[in-house]
Amino acid sequence: MQISRPRRNRKNNSIRQMVAEYKVTVDDLIAPLFFTEGKDTKSEILSMPGQYRYSLDHLVKKVKELESLGIKCVSLFPAVDESLKTRDAKESYNPDGLNQRAIKEVKNACPDILVMTDIALDPYSSDGHDGLVSDKGEILNDETLEVLGKMAMAQAQAGSDILGPSDMMDGRIGFIRELIESEGLYNTQIMAYTAKYASSFYGPFRDALDSAPKAGDKKTYQMDYANSTEALRELFLDESEGADIVMVKPGLCYLDIIQKLKMNTTLPVAAYNVSGEYAMVKAAAEKGWIDGEAIMVEMLTGFKRAGADIILSYFSEEFARLEH
Ligand code: PBG
Repeated sequence: MQISRPRRNRKNNSIRQMVAEYKVTVDDLIAPLFFTEGKDTKSEILSMPGQYRYSLDHLVKKVKELESLGIKCVSLFPAVDESLKTRDAKESYNPDGLNQRAIKEVKNACPDILVMTDIALDPYSSDGHDGLVSDKGEILNDETLEVLGKMAMAQAQAGSDILGPSDMMDGRIGFIRELIESEGLYNTQIMAYTAKYASSFYGPFRDALDSAPKAGDKKTYQMDYANSTEALRELFLDESEGADIVMVKPGLCYLDIIQKLKMNTTLPVAAYNVSGEYAMVKAAAEKGWIDGEAIMVEMLTGFKRAGADIILSYFSEEFARLEH
């Protein structure tokens, strides 16, 4: 006689919904958005169907739309004109630069939306690296911290709610935290890119910003995907340096790392469902090989099940529309 029949709890939709452990909602999602100079323009990013580089007027319109769909947070990524890229990346902390103007305009139009901003030199660096590059090609750590600090201040003063250092320099969370605290900006949060791996999944993002490294790769600062325990080392450092939220990036191949962080911290954990993951789903769906919408929901739920409290995803808008 069969006594235990797990299928009883799956017998219809009502029971399945009642016993479901994890459910993604729009509250969990952060929508990354790309923008550029200009007026009344938006150009689609070829390798990211449905994602655009918006001029600031369109960016603001898009944020309003996302807000009406229930999205709580957007993450801003500027596509900076080549002529402004330099070796010292000084445009990154220009108070009147594109990124800082975008923060102000979005916060003005939508004061309740949380604005997250990226801290790393690559969109502003003629070398296409997240840090300063020495004449010998080394990515300089402590010299870079000074620039990251200036970026953090410029963004926080423009009104950014959440700073997202994505550069993987050592000590940057503490450096930035002390600086913004000493300036009285104690409410500005830091979402640390805690375990950010050197990954080929960032390809479409680098197309979007034209920010690929001109020489070499990012393996001397981003983590080696052969490693897992090292993510805990980064976690403990970021916690002790004052991070408010910790993140794992990319997402799909790193669900084990998300779970590991979740089990070892009391901070909220975020996962970044990156550009290459989005591009793969979109490409296969366009070919009719997979059901793109079903895969989107399965993927986002997978992040939650692994332990993510927050998910940065280019699918945010599409998911929010499904729920509406
Ligand atoms: C910049 C940065 C990258 C991403 C977010 N911030 C690219 C990189 O590190 O090369 C990738 C996001 C994505 O692929 O969606 N430091």
